[in-house]
Amino acid sequence: MDVTVAPPLGMLAELTHRCPLHCPYCSNPVELATRADELTTAQWLAVLDAARDIGVLQVHLSGGEPLARHDLPELVSRAAGIGCYVNLVTSGLGLTAGRLSDLVERGLAHVQLSVQGAEPDRADRIAGARAHRHKLAAAALVKEQDVPLTVNVVLHKENHDVGALIALAEEMGADRLELANTQYYGWALRNRAALMPTPAQLAAAEPVVRAAAQRLRGAMEIVYVVADHYEKYPKPCMYGWGARQLTVAPNGDVLPCPAASAITTLPVENVKTRPLREIWYDSASFNAYRGEEWMSEPCRTCDRRSADFGGCRCQAFQLLGDAAATDPVCSRSPDRGVVDLLLRSPGEQDGFVMRGSVGAR
Ligand code: SF4
Ligand code: FES
Repeated sequence: MDVTVAPPLGMLAELTHRCPLHCPYCSNPVELATRADELTTAQWLAVLDAARDIGVLQVHLSGGEPLARHDLPELVSRAAGIGCYVNLVTSGLGLTAGRLSDLVERGLAHVQLSVQGAEPDRADRIAGARAHRHKLAAAALVKEQDVPLTVNVVLHKENHDVGALIALAEEMGADRLELANTQYYGWALRNRAALMPTPAQLAAAEPVVRAAAQRLRGAMEIVYVVADHYEKYPKPCMYGWGARQLTVAPNGDVLPCPAASAITTLPVENVKTRPLREIWYDSASFNAYRGEEWMSEPCRTCDRRSADFGGCRCQAFQLLGDAAATDPVCSRSPDRGVVDLLLRSPGEQDGFVMRGSVGAR
């Protein structure tokens, strides 16, 4: 074991890929895990124990829609019982007062609720389901139970009305609002041309977000994730590869980042065949881009390398076919032209290709 590797802080537990929504910006893989592929309750309980054993303190129960798993209460009990802070990442569909109060009694500490748009008809169109009113009801339930609420909105060309989204989050009583410009991984890549916001939308959004963050200081935190294609430097993706968090996919695959299955050259580890501790510390996939040794120029000698870690490995692979390359979003990358070309010619797309489904709950 490499003693210089710090323990993980958080685990994203993707309990299922089943989901009642069909969002075109979905970052889950194009090939979803089926219900038959999913880990059993006993296997998830063992994953939670193993994660806590190596230091995980925050568990994000996600999907797909985690409420589709009937063993969710048992998993919440275990995660909270071993001392983890438990966050439910949900569409809100299927959340009833009874289910929520049971989860809270078992130790659920936080709810993150997705919203597709500020205006009901548009939000439902983006979700591919009549979902918006259920989300408002779910937010009300969360606030009634006095549970901290984060509202998460994936921003794109069709919903980039940040002023209205901030107003909606205030009405919903959110403690925190994440406004995250779409990352083009998994299914979202199919819709990149239809999703990419215009420079005018992005320019208009920033001052609105800044003013609202100032006005709402102490009442609602606003986190704005920029559209990195338009930036000079890349995002510090995952705060470094294999540095803080691991993801366990519905079938037990363990990934250094939720989108890492897109890197087809990366060896795949699975909780069914290798202990989580070994995967975190010793596996080829987690060690592939840890630290700075893997970097080539210009990152290797760059003064920003400990600030952004060379950017995003998934993006480098997706745009250049080389996960070890400098993220081409970076203005210092010799491949920045690839991103500039994309911005000049994002392509034509008439409407969204909606996310498919792997079956009802
Ligand atoms: Fe970051 Fe590498 Fe660009 Fe430097 S060259 S700013 S480390 S991505
Ligand atoms: Fe995978 Fe950035 S999304 S490393």
